[in-house]
Parts: sequence; structure tokens; C-alpha cells
Amino acid sequence: MQPAIPFTFPGIGADVGRLGALLGLGLRAAGWRAPAKPALLNLACGRADETGVLLAAVAARATDLFYLGIDLRPPEIAEARARWIPAAAPGWQLDFRAGDAARTDRMKQLPPFDFIFIRHQNYWHAPAVWEVLFKNALAALAPGGLLAITSYFDREHDLASACLLQCGAVRRAEVPHPHSRPLPDAPGKSVDRRLALFSAG
Ligand SMILES: C[S@@+](CC[C@H](N)C(=O)[O-])C[C@H]1O[C@@H](n2cnc3c(N)ncnc32)[C@H](O)[C@@H]1O
Repeated sequence: MQPAIPFTFPGIGADVGRLGALLGLGLRAAGWRAPAKPALLNLACGRADETGVLLAAVAARATDLFYLGIDLRPPEIAEARARWIPAAAPGWQLDFRAGDAARTDRMKQLPPFDFIFIRHQNYWHAPAVWEVLFKNALAALAPGGLLAITSYFDREHDLASACLLQCGAVRRAEVPHPHSRPLPDAPGKSVDRRLALFSAG
């Protein structure tokens, strides 16, 4: 699926292309395949730039799917809607909503999801909030579903993974990015530096 409008920044297309390959490695390592009609959640999705490669990696063969992106920030959600909803294949229901995914009452109103993705989780920015986000994500998984996270930093990835394990998640795969693009704004920061996949138990 090609974006209906170009990405905002140069380099994003290459980053998400590499992320698609990384997701393929992770899914193979976890031994997971999507069901025929998957439901997917992109949690704290921002602009959801990775929508095309995520759907290609997780659900390329699906003729019927539901994909929802949620983020706190309305402008990013509006951009995601403009970029991806017109690009959807027939039978693919894509939606993006501005909202607080830490609201457990609201999250419980959503259907169960076969695959939940949190790209560049931000655990150390607000550990208590992210613990709730992780618990809500695990509770939203369908039986046999997977939660995948990526991280900019090794230390943040380890802290987030420890939190998820503490919440009862089981790690199914852990994949360092072989070609992660370093970012100049902080030492040790790079795009999708680590990927981990978890089941709810
Ligand atoms: C590091 S950014 C990553 C954004 C995007 N996934 C990416 O990789 O470009 C973290 C995102 O988490 C979102 N976020 C933080 N708390 C949230 C909450 N309670 N509910 C929904 N989104 C939240 C922020 O708005 C932000 O877009």
C-alpha cells in the first residue's frame, strides 16, 4: 500500500522500509501468522508512517482486515487519516482516532486485536502512564495475539520490556535492528533500534 500523500520528512520512506524487513524477522522469530481476517491496533501511533509496511508485513494476504491507529495528538491523527485511508485496498477498514489509550474504560470498548504495535514506545517519559498503556494493550489482545514494541534506546527498551514481563506478558521474540539509522539528537538513539514481540501470557 503506497501513501496517498508523501511523507512529511525525507528519510521516512527508507526508515519504514527497513522497519518492514525488521517486522518480517520478528514475526518469523516468533513463529506467528495473522488470521484470515485480522484486527490490528497501532497504539500511540503518531502519524502512523509505518502503516503501509506494517500491514504488508503482518497481513499482506488478508482481503478483509480492520486496522485502527490511536494517538493523543489530533494533528498527527489527521495527517495519518489523509495519508492512509484513501490508500486502503478494498475490504481493508482503516481508522485513526485521537484519544487517550491510557483510558482503560475506553479501551475496553474496542474489539480484541490480533496484533498490536507500539512503535517507539516512550516508557521512560512517564513510566506510570506507559504501564497502564501496556496493560491496556495486553488486555486488548485476542487469544493468540501478539504485542510488538520498538524502541529508540536500548535502556528504554529494556525498561519497557521489564514492565511488560512484570505485567504478565511472555516475550516471544527479541530482534535488534541490523540497519537502524542513528539519530543525531541523542547518543545511542536510532530508529526502531530494537523490536520485541510479546503474548499476553
Ligand atoms: C515517541 S512517540 C512515537 C510516535 C509514533 N509511534 C512513531 O514511532 O513515530 C510516542 C507517542 O505516544 C503518544 N502517546 C503518549 N501517551 C499516550 C496516550 N496516553 N494515549 C495515546 N497516545 C499516547 C504520543 O502522543 C506520541 O505520539
